[in-house]
Amino acid sequence: EQPAKANIGVVGMAVMGSNLARNLAHHGYTVAVYNRSYSKTQALIEDHGSEGHFIPAKTAEEFVQSIQTPRSIILMVKAGGPTDATIETLLPLLSPGDIIMDGGNAYFRDTIRREQEISAKGFHFVGAGISGGEYGALTGPAIMPGGTPESYRIIGPMLEDISAHYEGEPCCAWMGPNGAGHFVKMIHNGIEYSDMQVIGEAYQLLRGAGLTNDECADVFAQWNTGDLSSYLIEITAEVLRAKDPRTGKDLVEIIKDRAQMKGTGTWTVQTALELGVPANGIAEAVFARAESSHDELRAAGRAALQGPDGTVHVDDREAFVEDVRKALWCSKVVSYSQGFDEIRTGGREFGWDIDVAQAASIWRDGCIIRAALLERIRKEYTADPGLVSLMCSTSVAPEMAANQDAWRRVVALAAASGVPAPVFSATLAYYDMARAPRVSAALTQAQRDFFGSHTYERVDEPGHYHIEWTADR
Ligand code: ATR
Repeated sequence: EQPAKANIGVVGMAVMGSNLARNLAHHGYTVAVYNRSYSKTQALIEDHGSEGHFIPAKTAEEFVQSIQTPRSIILMVKAGGPTDATIETLLPLLSPGDIIMDGGNAYFRDTIRREQEISAKGFHFVGAGISGGEYGALTGPAIMPGGTPESYRIIGPMLEDISAHYEGEPCCAWMGPNGAGHFVKMIHNGIEYSDMQVIGEAYQLLRGAGLTNDECADVFAQWNTGDLSSYLIEITAEVLRAKDPRTGKDLVEIIKDRAQMKGTGTWTVQTALELGVPANGIAEAVFARAESSHDELRAAGRAALQGPDGTVHVDDREAFVEDVRKALWCSKVVSYSQGFDEIRTGGREFGWDIDVAQAASIWRDGCIIRAALLERIRKEYTADPGLVSLMCSTSVAPEMAANQDAWRRVVALAAASGVPAPVFSATLAYYDMARAPRVSAALTQAQRDFFGSHTYERVDEPGHYHIEWTADR
């Protein structure tokens, strides 16, 4: 006995949208489904129609009419123009109080704009980051919604239902008004970039030291049983074991070494620059993808530039692997410290008051950066919501201290061997800058006053000072 109306609607029947619709149906909701071109909707019904209650719609009118009011409508269409176009189509069909939720990877400033425009017309707009990839959308992703509290009261329970759960707690929570959800998702992706890059750096160092791909896979599988335990470390082991079906060679050796990206990492770094948050590890990860894909530069570099060939000379392989593990842990902590600093600073700047512990809490499962570390981060921010930096917290700082010698050895060895390790080294510089009693910025400020009369502050007295540096300038 299918209810006459759907509990919720999903627009956009590409992989993420259809998997999310199926996930909702699996949880007992009746789901209205609609796609610009009907063939995708038809394919969903043909392949998965028996999994639950779907109401397929051929037109936007039919779709909207088939949903109970106040309507909850999830958009899973291409970000940017297509999202705006879909909203334009839907708006004239809605009733006051209806909710449109954008579940794509929207830029949070677009979400702020859309929320303003749509709420002015009497509807709710929710911007929700969804992480977990295709499989996560189907079986339980992490969901980061932002919007009005009223809209969360309506759509939130359904989202919490279909999200992943960590020890019974949903990996979904209201992040704040308008763009807060997409902002948190953006930072999630920025951290994901640095997590992936630093794993890549560790891998290249291990290979440089003579480990085979299978041996590297064993190392990552081993690391996945300890502090580094995470989805990305786990899949790294699997990736390194995979063979090319065509040649039988290690698949990773067949794949072109150019990493692509879709923009969320870039936004994280752009926003960090605007907020003055020194997220250098995340930035280096984004730049590393860019440099890997800069074919012209790499061709010119291969032709012109000299240096060691990337062979890492180690006496004690086991000790080296352990050093790399410790370095990876330290760099990972710094990347998360930078990401959480950006959440905190952005939350203040944009007036969202984001609960940082809660952001960590909903990343514990379902999302791509799910990791054992996140439960620790949640605990740290719960104990001290004003925590300035994760790496400085009472439980983490002593571990950084214990691991930093290994981290320095790895960075030094990478540099000496010609293995590019931008995130390993940038995060170490960040750590050293943070703990230094005095940094070189005094000289920078002196230079600024010298050439531009920008003034300087004194260590012994408040105020801004300027001197005539030379008589004849
Ligand atoms: P995929 O994920 O398969 O690569 P995509 O091009 O990213 O697909 O598009 C994802 C979804 O956005 C699809 O549902 C697509 O609708 P179509 O199947 O009709 O192409 C939808 N989409 C893309 N551009 C759109 C637009 N301008 N208006 C409405 N929906 C659009």
